[in-house]
Amino acid sequence: MLLKDNPIGVFDSGVGGLTVLREIIDALPNESVIYFGDTARCPYGPRDLKEVERFVLEIVDFLSRQGVKMVVIACNTGTAAGLVSAQKEFKNLPIIGVIKPGAQAAFETTKNKKVGVIGTVGTISSSSYHKALLEFDASIEVFAKATPEFVDFVERGEVEGAKIEEVARSYLEPLKAAGIDSLILGCTHYPLLYPVIKKIMGDGVEVISSAKETAREVKNILERKALLRNSSNPVYRFLSTGDPQEFLRLGRLFLGKEITQVEKVILK
Ligand code: DGL
Repeated sequence: MLLKDNPIGVFDSGVGGLTVLREIIDALPNESVIYFGDTARCPYGPRDLKEVERFVLEIVDFLSRQGVKMVVIACNTGTAAGLVSAQKEFKNLPIIGVIKPGAQAAFETTKNKKVGVIGTVGTISSSSYHKALLEFDASIEVFAKATPEFVDFVERGEVEGAKIEEVARSYLEPLKAAGIDSLILGCTHYPLLYPVIKKIMGDGVEVISSAKETAREVKNILERKALLRNSSNPVYRFLSTGDPQEFLRLGRLFLGKEITQVEKVILK
């Protein structure tokens, strides 16, 4: 039974999904949340999609046993690998990912119908953004590029400076040359690189993060299902499969506010 007061479950391979949680908290300040970061198995990006699918099913199962009223797969690679299977296996639980909302934002933004997508190797190789964009408009031209080094930079907290700019330039120049007018940040880590990416892409290119759009989708679903929580004092729990101290250190950067406690979880 799904109840209004139950928390929303949000998960990612690590702390990157906190950029999505940030938007969910802004859009839905009354909602309680359990955030699950699978930091022990992060990164998902270079892994086989079948393996990531198994992780996604395990985590959704765990969250459903915690009594969440909805699950947000706040990880692009996780969404690409496991959203469909999770929706099929947990029929009574609303589950959404971040790819469709990001594609929708780009579809609504692009004027010349040339859209760029950057993400992990897993996300780009799945062509999930490509397919989602074409479902909105079959005439959109998609220019996709895996940009795996970005995750390493963000994990180190190195979000500005000459080195990241050089790497970003080599990844992004071909997309710029292709004439895109919208660029989807198809990875939870990339919103932290927004200033660098925007500087390279210039004023003519809208840089889109799926986080805002995903939060809007969460709100729509809870509204339609009459599951919006109306009381104040929401409770936030942060769970991690890896080192809680590391989560605390990076968590602040991703969430934009202090996290005081992280619980270590062992999945069975
Ligand atoms: N969270 C992942 C994503 O959005 C990036 C980090 C990883 O590779 O696990 O695709």
